[in-house]
Amino acid sequence: MTLLSDQPRLSDPPRLAPAELEAYWMPFTANRQFKSKPRMMATAEGMYYTTDDGRRILDGFAGLWCCNAGHGRKPIVEAIQRQAATMDYAPAFQMGHALAFELANRIVELAPKPLDHVFFCNSGSEAVDTALKIALAWQRARGEGARTRLIGRERGYHGVGFGGIAVGGIPSNRKMFGALMAGVDHLPHTLNIKECAFTRGQPEWGAHLADELERLVQLHDASTIAAVIVEPMAGSTGILVPPKGYLQRLREITRKHGILLIFDEVITAFGRVGANFAADLFGVVPDMITFAKGVTSGAVPMGGVIVSNTIYQQFMSGPPGAIELFHGYTYSAHPLACAAGVATLKLYKDEDLFARAARMAPRFEEALHSLKGARHVIDVRNIGLVGGIELAGRDGAPGARGFETYLKCFERGVLIRNTADILALAPALIVEEAQIDEIVSTIRDVLKDLA
Ligand SMILES: Cc1ncc(COP(=O)(O)O)c(C=O)c1O
Repeated sequence: MTLLSDQPRLSDPPRLAPAELEAYWMPFTANRQFKSKPRMMATAEGMYYTTDDGRRILDGFAGLWCCNAGHGRKPIVEAIQRQAATMDYAPAFQMGHALAFELANRIVELAPKPLDHVFFCNSGSEAVDTALKIALAWQRARGEGARTRLIGRERGYHGVGFGGIAVGGIPSNRKMFGALMAGVDHLPHTLNIKECAFTRGQPEWGAHLADELERLVQLHDASTIAAVIVEPMAGSTGILVPPKGYLQRLREITRKHGILLIFDEVITAFGRVGANFAADLFGVVPDMITFAKGVTSGAVPMGGVIVSNTIYQQFMSGPPGAIELFHGYTYSAHPLACAAGVATLKLYKDEDLFARAARMAPRFEEALHSLKGARHVIDVRNIGLVGGIELAGRDGAPGARGFETYLKCFERGVLIRNTADILALAPALIVEEAQIDEIVSTIRDVLKDLA
């Protein structure tokens, strides 16, 4: 594996005094807890971080679901360095640069047919808002302008833009922010521990929950509904693997009623589930796919939406000199992100990392499910190289056990993530068997002593 060891690097990252931690308002973070006992990362290479006090941390979460090729991969870093020295920025509107087109072509090569056009942005949240806007605009462009309603799902996470939190289904991400968007409804989520605890891969139970979409169509009428958006595998709310047949049913119902189906693959795209996209693994092709994270292996922010030719062509009908879609970002297809993206997709291919993830998945599943019977564990769920371990909540303190487990794993040199009392794992696709075992045994040891 090519790593960065022979590159010049910052030698001594600065150690900050407590007062210097105050100015930065950290996102999705318990700021006061963090600032009282900071967890500061300093360097990263392969499967490991090093903290500012020199501790090695095994990364069980690919950073934040994103560094799928592992950290500090030489071809990616060098591509970014070369591009920064060649052309730092090119205007995104009415101008182009070759790497943007190359990256779009490479993404289309990987995408399920007939998805063949790519719109670039800078994050998963922007990708979601872009997809929702394209859905509304497409319905209007084809003469269905009354289709303004958007359907999301309970426990869905679609980032933090107003569109994303409106279709998303996480109360804490919604309740502080007013009326959100009008005209949004939600499907029920698919998690049922009573029926499905310790299922390996896709649960047998739950396909019927897709029929709730028929109920919403009855309620609102299909002529008012533009799109349904779901994560094919819901990651951020605790690894909700789709029941067998569920996504197929959603596809049938949306197609029957002229409703667009959007898969939010910000987490699942680019090998995370052992396939190019979750759409490939589950055998269901949506009308649009959102992506981010893994496209650059986390090295430079980037996101995007892949759409079908039918959607793209609908917009190409006005005068040829006219702008077809009034949407875009200053940093859409940023040269550094495109350089990172092209190098990342090449690296995935050269090292056959998606197939590697698929080969490693049964081993990962086996290790994860060995936690059945461990203290506090009430469910284990997995697909590809994604795992969820649900703990019983502590009486009167929901989420405390999960957060304490996360902190104690970090103290013992392993980075995982917790969503309330659910622990989540998503190691880079280069993870070795021994590293999987180390992550799982660390969790087991921590739980043994946890109140
Ligand atoms: C499914 C999904 N959509 C959207 C997002 C938001 O991505 P970002 O944080 O890059 O805006 C995430 C982030 O984890 C995600 O998991």
